[in-house]
Amino acid sequence: MEIRPAVAEDLAELRALALAAWQETYRGIYSAGYIREFVEQVYTADFHADVIQQMASGEHFINVLLLQGVVSGIVDFENFGGEVNLMRVYLHPDLVGQGWGTRLLDYGEEELRGHGHDGYFLQVHARNHRGIRFYEKRGGVRVPDRDDAHEEELCYRMGSPAIVFP
Ligand SMILES: CC(C)(COP(=O)(O)OP(=O)(O)OC[C@H]1O[C@@H](n2cnc3c(N)ncnc32)[C@H](O)[C@@H]1OP(=O)(O)O)[C@@H](O)C(=O)NCCC(=O)NCCS
Repeated sequence: MEIRPAVAEDLAELRALALAAWQETYRGIYSAGYIREFVEQVYTADFHADVIQQMASGEHFINVLLLQGVVSGIVDFENFGGEVNLMRVYLHPDLVGQGWGTRLLDYGEEELRGHGHDGYFLQVHARNHRGIRFYEKRGGVRVPDRDDAHEEELCYRMGSPAIVFP
């Protein structure tokens, strides 16, 4: 087992991982076509290269979990002007429910703390019950003011995040 920062060469494995995770998590929430389109749009070479570059300037903190050498999980925090949001955390569906999510998020949070960030916000789909249970068990506190009703996304905060007012 290894957790390390994401690199440009992870793109193909991350795309396959995202597709598997999204198909399993959002079945019955988003259509198969939407999921495929979304993953194809996010995991382009340009987009991936951009976020990897943003890691160098502290705008993203992205770590991947490798099991037997295969990229099997990702955690990605974005720091936008001092406010940190969890952009994605997911595992390959075969690995869910074995504690890997906890290990991966612990690692990412430790890195954040090392850069002086004491907390962050996150959004989770209102029908992603496993995701909601995971965050609530970690002490996530609901922030209804930041919910996105249109996207059916609930906002939580972890720790004491800095709030950047527009
Ligand atoms: C959400 C997600 C990252 C959580 O990761 P996870 O590994 O499944 O969650 P946990 O680390 O809490 O582990 C789950 C279970 O394994 C157990 N566990 C913990 N450590 C363990 C260990 N060392 N060995 C075996 N089991 C262990 C936990 O007790 C937990 O059981 P419980 O929930 O019944 O108490 C993962 O389920 C996932 O990728 N889901 C799909 C994508 C998703 O929804 N992402 C969030 C969207 S915003």
